[in-house]
Amino acid sequence: SLPKQVIIKEVGPRDGLQNEKEEIKTEDKIEWINQLSETGLSYIELTSFVHPKWIPQLKDAVEVARSVERKDGITYAALVPNMKGLERALEADVDEVSIFMSASESHNKKNINKSINETYPILKKVVEEAKEAGKSVRGYVSTVFGCPYDGRVDEQQVIDVCQNLFDMGIDELSLGDTIGVANPIQVGQFLDLIEDKFSKDQIALHFHDTRGMALANTLVSLEKGYYIFDGSVGGLGGCPYAKGASGNVSTDDLVHMLHEMGVQTGIDLNQILKAGSFIQDKIDKPLPSKQMNIYRKS
Ligand code: HMG
Ligand code: MG
Repeated sequence: SLPKQVIIKEVGPRDGLQNEKEEIKTEDKIEWINQLSETGLSYIELTSFVHPKWIPQLKDAVEVARSVERKDGITYAALVPNMKGLERALEADVDEVSIFMSASESHNKKNINKSINETYPILKKVVEEAKEAGKSVRGYVSTVFGCPYDGRVDEQQVIDVCQNLFDMGIDELSLGDTIGVANPIQVGQFLDLIEDKFSKDQIALHFHDTRGMALANTLVSLEKGYYIFDGSVGGLGGCPYAKGASGNVSTDDLVHMLHEMGVQTGIDLNQILKAGSFIQDKIDKPLPSKQMNIYRKS
C-alpha cells in the first residue's frame, strides 16, 4: 500500500528559475514565494548561492532570501556549492542549506568545475560549518539514473557518493534524475538496491520530467515506501549544465495525482495553481504542467 502522507518540497524558485531565460524581477520572485508560503507547502527552496556568472538568474539570492515573509512551519532552504556560498546563505539566514554534486565525473566537472574527489573536502567543510551555525543540511546527488555526457552511471558509484555525503552528516539526501532519463523499472531496481543502506526517512526523489516519465517514476517510489518528493510549480525549470534537461515534475500534477489516489500532501491544489499562474505570466510562456493547462483554460 502507498504511504498515507507525502512531503512535497518545492524547488521552483531555485531549480525552476535557474533555467529560465526571461529575467524575473526580484520583487516578483518575492511576491511569488510569498504566495507559495500560503499553499500549505512545508518546504521551499528559495534560491541558490552559486556564482552569479554561472547562474545570473539568481544573482539576487541574498535579497530574495532576506525579503520573503517567513511563515512558521515552513523550512526555507537554499543551494550552496562551497564556503563562499555558505557565507552568503548564512548572511541571508536560511533555515537549511542544500549541497550538491554529481554521481558522474563529467557532469560534476561541467556543473561545479571540480572532479568528484576534489568536491568532497569542499562539501565536508560546508556541512561542518553549516551544522556549527545550527542549520540542517540536505544533499543532492545528480545524474543518479543517467548522465548527459557519461551515459548510464554505475550504481555502486552512485551509492558511494550517497554514502560519502551521509558520512559528512547530511540530514537528507535527494536523488536527482537530472535529465529525466529514468524509467520506472530502473527506479524500482535502484530503490531495492539501497533499501538496506539508507533510511526512507532520509531519502527524497528529485525527478525531472524531460521525457514524461516523472509521475510513473514517482508511483514506483511510492510503492516502495518513499514519501519525500521534490517538485516545481507548473513544471518550471531544468539544469543549465545538463543539455536538454527540462523542468522538474510539476508540483501541481504531483499533488493532483496523490490526492486522486487518496494520499495526503497538506497542499491546496488551487492555491498552488494560482501561484503557478502568477509566475507563468512573468516568464511569459506556457508552463508544461497538465493541471496548469486545465486551470488556465477554465
Ligand atoms: P569556480 O570558478 O571553480 O570557483 O566555480 P572558484 O572557487 O575557483 O572561485 C572563483 C571566483 O568565484 C572567486 O572570486 C570566488 O570568490 C567566486 P574571485 O576571487 O575570482 O573574485 N565564487 C563565488 N561567488 C559567489 N558565490 C559563490 C562563489 N563561489 C566562488 N558560491 C562554482 C565553482 C561552484 C562556484 C561554480 O561552478 C558554480 O557556481 N556552479 C553552479 C552551477 C549551478 O548552479 N548548477 C545548477 C544547480 S545544480 C542542479 O540544478 C541539480 C539539482 O537540481 C539536482 C538534479 O536535478 O540532479 C540540484
Ligand atoms: Mg534539478
